[in-house]
Amino acid sequence: MTKVVVTRQIPGNSIVQLQQIGYEVTVGSQDRSMTREELLKAVIGADAVLTQLQDKVDEQFLATAGPQLKIVANYAVGFDNFDLKAIQAHNVIATNTPDVLTEAVAEHTLALMLSIARRIVEADIIAHKQNQEFGPEVLLGTELKGKILGILGTGRIGSRVAEMARAIGMEIYYYDIKQNPDLETKLQAKFIPDPKELLKQADFVSIHVPLLDSTFHLINQDTLSLMKPTAYLINTSRGAVVDEQALTEALKNRQIRGAAIDVCEHEPKMCPGLESLMNIIVTPHIASATWEARTAMSDLAVENIIQVLSGYPPVTEVKG
Ligand code: DGY
Repeated sequence: MTKVVVTRQIPGNSIVQLQQIGYEVTVGSQDRSMTREELLKAVIGADAVLTQLQDKVDEQFLATAGPQLKIVANYAVGFDNFDLKAIQAHNVIATNTPDVLTEAVAEHTLALMLSIARRIVEADIIAHKQNQEFGPEVLLGTELKGKILGILGTGRIGSRVAEMARAIGMEIYYYDIKQNPDLETKLQAKFIPDPKELLKQADFVSIHVPLLDSTFHLINQDTLSLMKPTAYLINTSRGAVVDEQALTEALKNRQIRGAAIDVCEHEPKMCPGLESLMNIIVTPHIASATWEARTAMSDLAVENIIQVLSGYPPVTEVKG
């Protein structure tokens, strides 16, 4: 019998679809991802595995699963948990879930920007104490209109963030490995060929690059020191793109004005010292957490599995 492992419960009805086809489907817990031990045990003999971003798909995983494994379908657009060389060497297809979460992540990025600039979380805590009246200098924040948003990485999500930010009057500067003429025409976006220059000029910096060897700790003590003292850093990509220790120091020393991040370097933990700072907002990797996006991610991951197990090409394959 064809065996499909879904390492953690996912929203929507797509698991039922797998069962209706007649696959033997094993589903992990609703509340937590599998431990490494549980994962390795679960994938033995699997034909397809629907993985979460915490599930490392490496040589050990692939060898343990066995030669019948045909597809690993990641429940995420990012796939830094995949060792693509090893996956290819085992003749396994790898897929991700692009597009369907772009809107959700872009909206969350905007929400983080607005929240840190207007000190929404801090204000909410103060308001709950019920002793803060209106005051001309109480909780002053920063307006977004007219400010420079520096976008690092203008793939699908970075480009959508640029559109949304432009709609509220921000100036868009961007860095990417390739220039984006569309963005320049549509949004009057300005290409900055040197990311360090972008960091120097931006009032808000928003990170939308994948985690690769070349982007690990892209934001570090040195690059943070280039940013304006009034600037904000926003990260909804991957935690390890930012050296969190360096960010903690920069926020403590008021070297930049604030940060808002959805991802941490060692989730679910955050760098000691970060939790007590008021000039940072942290959300627990929920940028894609809307009913719309998460259900569509389930559907797409399952569609990839059904396609491959039926002998057809996947919809959204990723290659090294
Ligand atoms: C992704 O898709 O890579 C997000 O980080 C999780 O939705």
